[in-house]
Amino acid sequence: MNDIPMPPADAAFWTRARRHMLGYGGEFVPFVPVRAAGSFLYDAAGRRVLDFTSGQMSAILGHSHPDIIAAVHKSIGTLDHLFSSMLSHPVVDLAEKLAQLVPDLPKVMLLSTGGEANEAAIRLAKTVTGKWEVVGFTQSWHGMTGQAAAATYSAGRRGTGPVAPGSFAIPAPNAYHPRFAGVTWQQELDDSFALLDRQCTGNLCAFIAEPILSSGGILDLPPGYMAALREKCDARGMLLILDEAQTGIGRTGQMFAFERDGVVPDILTLSKTLGAGLPLAALMTRNAIADAAKAKNFLFYTTHVNDPLPASIGLAVLRVVERDGLVARAAGAGERLARGLRGLQQRHACVGDVRGRGLLMGIEFAGAKAAAISDAVTDLALELGLSANIVRVGTSGGVMRIAPPLTVTDEEIDLGVGLLGEAIARVTAE
Ligand SMILES: Cc1ncc(COP(=O)(O)O)c(C=O)c1O
Repeated sequence: MNDIPMPPADAAFWTRARRHMLGYGGEFVPFVPVRAAGSFLYDAAGRRVLDFTSGQMSAILGHSHPDIIAAVHKSIGTLDHLFSSMLSHPVVDLAEKLAQLVPDLPKVMLLSTGGEANEAAIRLAKTVTGKWEVVGFTQSWHGMTGQAAAATYSAGRRGTGPVAPGSFAIPAPNAYHPRFAGVTWQQELDDSFALLDRQCTGNLCAFIAEPILSSGGILDLPPGYMAALREKCDARGMLLILDEAQTGIGRTGQMFAFERDGVVPDILTLSKTLGAGLPLAALMTRNAIADAAKAKNFLFYTTHVNDPLPASIGLAVLRVVERDGLVARAAGAGERLARGLRGLQQRHACVGDVRGRGLLMGIEFAGAKAAAISDAVTDLALELGLSANIVRVGTSGGVMRIAPPLTVTDEEIDLGVGLLGEAIARVTAE
C-alpha cells in the first residue's frame, strides 16, 4: 500500500528516540517536524504535512501565529511566573474577559492542562456539595490525573489499580450505533439514572460531560439532551461540569458548544483551545459556588495557578478570535468541510457516518474492518501529506477525528478532503 516512501527521516534521530523516549500511548508518528507555520508542518527535507488535528486538537490559530509570538515575547520579557498567591493584570484581564463571555460563571481560576482543570472542578464540586460520587459517560476523556482519570472511561483504566471510589458511568447517546432499536435517548437517560440511583450511596456530587465526546468518537449530544441531563442533576443536588477542552473558543461555530443547548453548567472547564496549543486552562463557576467554596476552605494550590505568561497568551487568543471573526469562520469553514466529507461518504461505501459540528468533525468507517481501514487511511494520508488524527487508544478505532485550525483557508480544506479521499480510494482498492 505505502508505495510513496517517507523521506529518509534521519535514521540517527530514530535510533536516539528509540533509546531514550518512554512510550505513552501507541506508536510515535513517523514524521519529524522541524518547523510549523499556519496549517502546515514541515520536516527537515522540506516535506509539508497539512495539520488537520491542530496539533493535539489545540492550535486553533494554526502554528506560529504572529499575535501569539508577540504575546509570548512581550510577557517573557516583562512578567513570566509569580508566587501562586500573587495576582497580576493579565490574569485578572483574562478572568474578566472570560466572565464577559459567560456572565453566569464570573469566578475564574487559571491552570495549565485539561486534566488539571477537571481535577480542580471535581474537587470543587466535592468541597461544595460535601458529596463524593461522580458520574461521566462511558466514552469520556477528561485527563490522566486522579479524579480526571477516574471520570475517563474511553481508555486507560487497565493495570493502574483502584480508581476513586464512587466513580460511575452512563452510556453516551449514539445515533449511529443505537444500543437498542426503538429506544429514544430520553428513555436511555432515564434508565441510566434509575440504575445510578440504585448503585449510589446517596452521595451523587457531579456529572462531568463533554458536549461532543471527542476521544469517544465525535459523539454529539443530541439537541435537548443537555437540558434533560441538567434536570437529572438538579433533581439530585448534583453539579453539572462541562468540559469544553476541545469544543470551547469557537471550534463548533459558537464560542462554547453549550450555547446551542441554552444550558449553562455549574462549572465550565476550558483548556487545549484557550491557549491555542500552549499550556493554559481555566475553570469558571458561579458566584454562589465560589462563596460556598470559600466558606469551606477550598484548596487547589499549584505552581502555575494564575501565572501571567499563559494568561497573556489566552488574552491574545481571545483577541484574535474576536478581531478576525473566527467563530463565524469556524461555522462557515465547517460547512465546507462537512460538504467535502459527505462527498467522500457518497463516493466510498466504507465511509459509514460523517458527524460533528463546525470544525470538529468525525468520519466513522463502516463494517467489521472499520478499525483496520481507518488505521490504513490515517497512515497513507500522512504519507500523502495530511495529518488527520485517529483514536488509536481505546474503543473508537474506526473513527477519524478532523479538527483543522479556525484559521484554515477554503483551499486548505479542499486540499485536506482531496488527500483524504485519495487515501480512502487507494486503501479500499487493495
Ligand atoms: C475533552 C477533554 N478533556 C480533558 C482532556 C485532558 O487534557 P490534558 O491532556 O491537557 O490534560 C482532553 C485531552 O484530550 C480532552 O479531550
